[in-house]
Amino acid sequence: MIALVILISGRGSNMASLLAAANAGELPARIVGVISCRPDAQGLQTAALRGVPTRVVDYRLFAERQQFDAALAEAIDGFAPDLVVLAGFMRILGGDFVRHYGGRLINIHPSLLPAFPGLHTHRRALAEGVRIHGCSVHFVTPDLDHGPIIIQAAVPVLDQDDEAALAARVLVQEHRVYPLAVRWFAEGRLRLQDGRVQLDSPQSGEAVLIAPQLAAN
Ligand code: GAR
Repeated sequence: MIALVILISGRGSNMASLLAAANAGELPARIVGVISCRPDAQGLQTAALRGVPTRVVDYRLFAERQQFDAALAEAIDGFAPDLVVLAGFMRILGGDFVRHYGGRLINIHPSLLPAFPGLHTHRRALAEGVRIHGCSVHFVTPDLDHGPIIIQAAVPVLDQDDEAALAARVLVQEHRVYPLAVRWFAEGRLRLQDGRVQLDSPQSGEAVLIAPQLAAN
């Protein structure tokens, strides 16, 4: 069993999908702590209800980003995790922080990276008229929403889509790929090697690209 710390800023649905997978015995991992950068993050209540220790490192209390990063690292290291999982964590992390967790810091982003890093990914995908959209799980590097990609899921963009409909279609896939990526890491089969993703012995049916609805459209 590896120990996970999950970092959130809001709703926490990806966190909840990881908690559910761990509770169902699908993840050889224990979620030892959930940390939010906002005291009002909804996900804090979800975690507490499931008996997971929570902490808040409120970014508004720090004048400099480096001070926030240091306080955050202290809170994380207090849980001694093997893997740090960013799940809707909306603060930019500095290079020192990212290097400290090199190879054991992963993120999920709601686009097919490297397209649409940053905010409002679904709105921008609609504005660009892309026909395929999705989500990516990646190891974190000092560049925002950038880094070696572990797994992606693709969904179609439909003519009648608005931002909410597209976001909902992507979110279903987020809840599928993130537990999978974490499971691979927990099984010791996934690592970052010389800046590239190494996944050992994929089993049959295991794919690093999931595109459930594309064929039907
Ligand atoms: C998710 O869609 C996640 O991919 C995104 O924030 C949402 C959080 O939802 N993350 C980013 O945009 C990071 N750049 P959740 O709190 O319900 O998991």
